[in-house]
Amino acid sequence: MHHFQFRHGELYAEELPVREIARRVGTPFYLYSTATLKRHFRIFDRAFGALPHLVCYSVKANSNLAVLRLFAREGSGADIVSGGELYRALKAGIPPEKIVFSGVGKTPREMREALKAGILMFNVESLGELQTLARVARSLGKVAPVAIRINPDVDPKTHPYISTGLQKNKFGLDLETAFKAYLLAREDPHLQVLGIDCHIGSQLTEISPFVEALRRVKAFMKRLAQEDIEIRYLDLGGGLGIVYGDEAPPPPEEYARALVEELKDLKVTLILEPGRVLVGNAGILVTRVLYYKETPAKKFVIVDAGMNDLLRPAFYDAYHEIVPVTSHPDRPEIVADVVGPICETGDFFARDRKLPLVKPGELLAVMSTGAYGFVMSSNYNSRPRPPEVLVSGSEYFVVRRRESYARLVAGEKIPEFLL
Ligand code: LLP
Repeated sequence: MHHFQFRHGELYAEELPVREIARRVGTPFYLYSTATLKRHFRIFDRAFGALPHLVCYSVKANSNLAVLRLFAREGSGADIVSGGELYRALKAGIPPEKIVFSGVGKTPREMREALKAGILMFNVESLGELQTLARVARSLGKVAPVAIRINPDVDPKTHPYISTGLQKNKFGLDLETAFKAYLLAREDPHLQVLGIDCHIGSQLTEISPFVEALRRVKAFMKRLAQEDIEIRYLDLGGGLGIVYGDEAPPPPEEYARALVEELKDLKVTLILEPGRVLVGNAGILVTRVLYYKETPAKKFVIVDAGMNDLLRPAFYDAYHEIVPVTSHPDRPEIVADVVGPICETGDFFARDRKLPLVKPGELLAVMSTGAYGFVMSSNYNSRPRPPEVLVSGSEYFVVRRRESYARLVAGEKIPEFLL
């Protein structure tokens, strides 16, 4: 459930008409709902109430400082994958002792930054990374807390680009290599084995792959216990799917119940790294129709947002519902492509979509774009990135302003020899 609802034919964000915000901030823009973000966090967190657990929101899904601060105030930690995300998480007030660092390509510099900050643990994904981490920790006179990321070879049954727990994916370590990694880590005075980690993919709509992965992790932990390697944190990653169209993902309560059932006799603190399920349906992209055009082959609705603002349809052929912000009940329906202004055939938000016949000047909302929306935006075609706006009740706040042309070229310089 989210707080973007129609009242008398007008789309509202909480207590504010979306049209009113668009009039003030211009289009396109991202719009997030405070009430939805809070609600989603609380439902997710409470679902695991029966177990010692820590929710580490996956910053990559939506890394706006305001969103991070909101989750920090709800008690969330953070799952980060870069020095930049560490910087954001700390700036937003997420306590370092609630931060886990994932990713296959951490640099020594990023490791240093995270060690100095005092994060909870590094989710290590290769033997090379383990050695580098030990060396960096030694140079700082510190001990790095580690978990090894297991690749359990489980099919998450999702889009191939967002599957991560299959043997052929670049993520994690197979069980044999992971075992070696634990033995090595145990011997190194600058590493402390703290946990075990596993994340199998994103936008999962079934529970069974999670349970299967967890069973494999549990079996592996038995092997570790025989070596007296004690695991205090079991990080199960993120990945729970949301409704974009006709999917029927399990609600967080059901997902939690299945995991809690598997974990009840283990003495570990469970870590979860949800991203999409917390923010996906808490955001929309508001765009204005520029033109309507008919060709002998097709109809096109041309809007002022493009694939640089929202990449998911172009990149994954992802489905996002698109609705007029003001509904007019008696309009004829058309079947059209909703496309952006960018010079790429892949620049579409929908293809052959049934829509009411919309008019130039009208506003459309691209729904469920709170996750992997703004964070994947770019300046392609030299388009300034759109603002992000947060609604709270009947107030709205621009939490990232629209980029200016000056900002577009801010880091660039014409070298002297060309002057
Ligand atoms: N933990 C790790 C280690 C991850 O790699 C991810 C996502 C998450 C947690 C959070 O997963 P979530 O709960 O959001 O499913 N850009 C793609 C999704 C990429 C997901 C990458 N990793 C999309 O737009 O669908």
